[in-house]
Amino acid sequence: MRGKICGIGAYAPENFYDNHDIAKIVETSDEWIRERTGIVRRHIADEDTTMSMAVKAARAALENGKVEAKELDLILTATITPNTIIPCVSCEVQKALGAENATCFDMSAACAGFVFAYNAAQAYIASGMYRTILIIGSETLSNIVNWEDRGSCILFGDGAGAAVIRGEEGEVFPCVTHSDGTMGEVLACESRHQKGWEEKEAAKQTYLSMNGKEVFKFAVKKVPEVIEELLGRTDYVKEDIDWFVLHQANQRIIESVAKRMKIDICKFPMNISEFGNTSSASIPILLDEMNRSGKLKRGQKIVIAGFGAGLSWGASLLEW
Ligand code: COA
Repeated sequence: MRGKICGIGAYAPENFYDNHDIAKIVETSDEWIRERTGIVRRHIADEDTTMSMAVKAARAALENGKVEAKELDLILTATITPNTIIPCVSCEVQKALGAENATCFDMSAACAGFVFAYNAAQAYIASGMYRTILIIGSETLSNIVNWEDRGSCILFGDGAGAAVIRGEEGEVFPCVTHSDGTMGEVLACESRHQKGWEEKEAAKQTYLSMNGKEVFKFAVKKVPEVIEELLGRTDYVKEDIDWFVLHQANQRIIESVAKRMKIDICKFPMNISEFGNTSSASIPILLDEMNRSGKLKRGQKIVIAGFGAGLSWGASLLEW
């Protein structure tokens, strides 16, 4: 048994900050942000929460896949910005959808979240434990961004994406994942729910902090490696792959991966200019956009690759 994406959906808040809006908050410019990141604007939640966006993306994915909520065996939400710690976002999604047969829990794997959730879904389906799984990436990163730090606040946006994965007979594709906890401090955010949180809050430790250069170096090294490792476990070569759908962190990271791997950049779709980095939501938001625009055709081979805080990274091969 393998899991196949049979429905995809996404949601982003209407409200957005373009680079000129950001330049009113911190000392930066539209030109600097575009040149270093490729980002032009990012959606920022106003009324929406991580949960409400997860529900909207989930409804869109179910509708796209013509799947009833009652058919779901598992709802797995990847998020680092849940608006409630308990109950988990997935349980709230279950309640909103009426997915009464689903088991629900959340996963924290930052920007690798969607790929890790996808891999977990594959493992559950292969084991026979669940057959129809809803995975969601939903983030309100604007709540944890340090809006005084121009080195990081320019990058992030809010949004959600979801995929319904259904078990079927067919070729099983590999997944590869890795983590390196010794590098955790290069992209970190402490919980507000701990003793002494007031001091940590004042010191901005409860907001996202990032060593941009280190994260950049990590991404351009590990992403090509993990894709090579993934393809090495198959009979496919990179020429057989139709699309490389990478986590949308920075246009320069994606361009550098394409160059290092000697793959045409046209095979690396991007929408970072519109959304910024939406962490666990970036890959399903992009897949949904590609699907709606007719770029994705059944039978195409796609590599998805995620990377980020942990540090964690991973890649999966799938057939659309
Ligand atoms: N506007 C204007 N200047 C800025 C700036 C901004 N928003 N942010 C930083 N700078 C300045 C710095 O202060 C520094 O000035 P100095 O030389 O006078 O000290 C200069 O620009 C260079 O800073 P640096 O941090 O070296 O820039 P960079 O080229 O590494 O670009 C990032 C910064 C954040 C865009 C880049 O490192 C990056 O994208 N890293 C990966 C981050 C990422 O993807 N994180 C999520 C992973 S999931």
